[in-house]
Amino acid sequence: MTVALVSGASRGLGAAIARRLAADGFAVAVNYAAGRERAERVVADIRSAGGTAEAFGADVTDEAAVQDLVERIRAALGPVGVLVANATGPQPEIPVDRLGWRDHLDQLEFFVKSPTLLLQAVLADMRAAGNGRFVQIGSDAFERAMPGMSAYNAAKGAQWGLTRTWARELGGDGITVNLVAPGWVPVERHGDLTDADTAGYVSEVPMGRIGRPEDVAAAVSYLASDAAGFVTGQRITVNGGHNMD
Ligand SMILES: NC(=O)c1ccc[n+]([C@@H]2O[C@H](COP(=O)([O-])OP(=O)(O)OC[C@H]3O[C@@H](n4cnc5c(N)ncnc54)[C@H](OP(=O)(O)O)[C@@H]3O)[C@@H](O)[C@H]2O)c1
Repeated sequence: MTVALVSGASRGLGAAIARRLAADGFAVAVNYAAGRERAERVVADIRSAGGTAEAFGADVTDEAAVQDLVERIRAALGPVGVLVANATGPQPEIPVDRLGWRDHLDQLEFFVKSPTLLLQAVLADMRAAGNGRFVQIGSDAFERAMPGMSAYNAAKGAQWGLTRTWARELGGDGITVNLVAPGWVPVERHGDLTDADTAGYVSEVPMGRIGRPEDVAAAVSYLASDAAGFVTGQRITVNGGHNMD
């Protein structure tokens, strides 16, 4: 059974991605930071649906913690064959006149440092297997350039740059590297939203509805599948056509 590691899978998009990859037949390592109980609930859901999963606590922005995480996964489930870099910290809105370097670093920790550490930790196993899938969760915010979100947008743009470069570096090893860019997908942290709260956004979306975590999970599922073995260095935007390349 191929092992899939999803960072930040205790809630939000990561939890939906973990559930979907387990339903696809992967043994899923459900990573969490503070939300152990929520991660255990995701694992319990997967197991009761007949899947294989285990929860692993680790701060994926910390080098030693990432190394230890991947070693624990290898011992419990096996080497990681599918890596999904999904975890995020807070994404504050900060206008440029108040923007500090620390604000940039806070975003770069999650979208540049963490993907780098995670990839480096699983690379030897993927190379040994001659096969591997790395899916980064980016954002359409980079293209949409939302005011006040420059630190987040810059880090998401950097993540896209890493995706393209690593796809070139690792293609010869049989490893694909792609990015899924969701639009707005309400999750727990957005609170309870009514149709009225999302109506303005939805009015700009050609598909006429708000995104669901399952929409994003389906794109990750495709990129992790055998069917996507010849797809690398690509971005799949999942936002109902809100922006188009
Ligand atoms: N939701 C959207 O509208 C949307 C739109 C575009 C892009 N995205 C992208 O999609 C990804 C997921 O976003 P989301 O909205 O699902 O986020 P979320 O609901 O806030 O979930 C964040 C996840 O990251 C984990 N996490 C936080 N700090 C961590 C750390 N240091 N180490 C390991 N895990 C950590 C959290 O774990 P704990 O619960 O254990 O703290 C949680 O599982 C992000 O990359 C985000 O930029 C989301």
